[in-house]
Amino acid sequence: MARIVGGLTTSHIPAIGNAIHKNLFEDPYWKPFFDGYPPAREWLAEVKPDIAIVIYNDHGLNFFLDKQPTFAFGAAPQYTNEDEGWGIPVIPPFKGDPAFSWHLINSVVHEDFDLVTCQEMAVDHGFSVPMQLYWPNFSYTDIATVPVMINTVQHPLPSPARCYRLGQAIGRAVASYPEDKKVVVIGTGGLSHQLDGQRAGFINKEFDLTCMEKIVDDPEYFLDYSIHDLVRLAGAQGAEFILWLTMRGALGGKVKQLHSNYHIPISNTAAGTMVLEAAE
Ligand code: DHB
Ligand code: FE
Repeated sequence: MARIVGGLTTSHIPAIGNAIHKNLFEDPYWKPFFDGYPPAREWLAEVKPDIAIVIYNDHGLNFFLDKQPTFAFGAAPQYTNEDEGWGIPVIPPFKGDPAFSWHLINSVVHEDFDLVTCQEMAVDHGFSVPMQLYWPNFSYTDIATVPVMINTVQHPLPSPARCYRLGQAIGRAVASYPEDKKVVVIGTGGLSHQLDGQRAGFINKEFDLTCMEKIVDDPEYFLDYSIHDLVRLAGAQGAEFILWLTMRGALGGKVKQLHSNYHIPISNTAAGTMVLEAAE
């Protein structure tokens, strides 16, 4: 049977893709951020997952404001990065696993979640930057992926509780997949940030640290929060924290925190990097 081995979190901002391309790993601005990744990569090298379910948000690339699904699952044989790219060279496509994707889709629709199913899907920095951070030098081509897109750009956004429950449904779907596969779930985006409006540049370290603490042992702490609570506490784009909650729902009961790194700011954003190991 398939099994979720653990969860990862990471910021996904496009400037990271540029910094990777320019090899800025030792640059004083970037070093404290990039130093958060080697322990996570060591864990991945040990565990060797077969599939990554990447919970991310599309920022206007594959879906625009005219058609904006709440949830969309990829079911394509491959996914190409079509982000604006800052002039970065084209990167190799990400591998899909349509049979596994359709199993997830069938299972969560059976549990009454309404999805858009995508047999073609372009991905942006929300997906491609985390994949490049955790599997550097294009080694991500060795692992299959399922992009799970959640709307964080056009209100109304799905509530923290609904995202957590979608995560739980994804967890049950993985557990019922008949092939032996090790699955890692990535919650991308966050932590606090706001890119526009009067609060542009807003960061809330105290709330971020609460998020990183509670996501480990008490994720249900956030289930009574509304999207407006999240926007107030984490900024308009900090609502991306619902992607972390979806990941945590998929991991289920108890998890062990193996690694964590918090760094502010990169670009306009608080970056939280975590490795959570799922219980056997
Ligand atoms: C930034 C943050 C994001 O979440 C994003 O999608 C794009 C840019 C930033 O802080 O630069
Ligand atoms: Fe974003």
